[in-house]
Amino acid sequence: MPAQDQNDLISRIESWPDFPIEEAHKLNRNRWSDINSPNAQKFSHREPEEDIINFFDNFGSVIQAPLLDLGCAGGHNLEVAYKRGIFPLYGVDISSAFVSDALARVPSAEVRAGDMKNLPYEDNYFRTIVARGVFHLTTANGLLVVLGEANRVMTSSGILYVMVRHLPDEDEKPRVRKFDEGNKFTYLVYENPLSENPNQNPIMVRNYVQNQENLREILLYSGFKILEMGNAKQNPERNRKGIYTVCEKIF
Ligand SMILES: C[S@@+](CC[C@H](N)C(=O)[O-])C[C@H]1O[C@@H](n2cnc3c(N)ncnc32)[C@H](O)[C@@H]1O
Repeated sequence: MPAQDQNDLISRIESWPDFPIEEAHKLNRNRWSDINSPNAQKFSHREPEEDIINFFDNFGSVIQAPLLDLGCAGGHNLEVAYKRGIFPLYGVDISSAFVSDALARVPSAEVRAGDMKNLPYEDNYFRTIVARGVFHLTTANGLLVVLGEANRVMTSSGILYVMVRHLPDEDEKPRVRKFDEGNKFTYLVYENPLSENPNQNPIMVRNYVQNQENLREILLYSGFKILEMGNAKQNPERNRKGIYTVCEKIF
């Protein structure tokens, strides 16, 4: 990808009117922190999905500790790493409600509450970061911020696994709208269909990068070379659209 094209996408993202990142993460934290909410219930005791198993199976020779699971929820991905003998393991999640579930699953892991835009770790520490289903839980500008933060806490040549949802799901479309027509990536999520109640406040904020090419450009700009990228295989019943990628930190 020519440098000019990369900068075009990044400067467009930076110039789009955007929802404030702080406010977006506050909404998302509230959504995930209520342990009785459907979001928290779904992720507190879950089995790992096929794409993350494939990552550990196919990249076993380059996955090294210390490993951080960013947005670790109930610790199901940490458990996959634990069973492969990777140590030490760390987990961080914006919702403190998940910490005890993750620790129950992997007692030797160091799990804490924290926000991916301001990670509670030193520079150049992790040799592997797993960020599955979490980088789309911010705004378009926030995506650049959280990738910069992941880059900061990784060693050079560290491995980053990302899985993001890149388009709104069909069943979600009635409850989702773009923050601003000029902003191609930031979306607001509502509790009820907008046709029923157009004046609701949003309950979550997301970014949808639309396609693999955009994600590739954003990752390159953020200092990551793509080793592999594809459509994430997920439980077909859930019919979610996701892109996975395995990258290496190059600067
Ligand atoms: C869709 S779940 C994915 C959970 C798990 N990584 C997986 O692969 O199934 C998203 C997780 O990210 C967490 N999360 C959301 N926003 C976050 C943020 N700003 N910083 C850290 N974690 C966040 C949520 O609390 C939730 O546990």
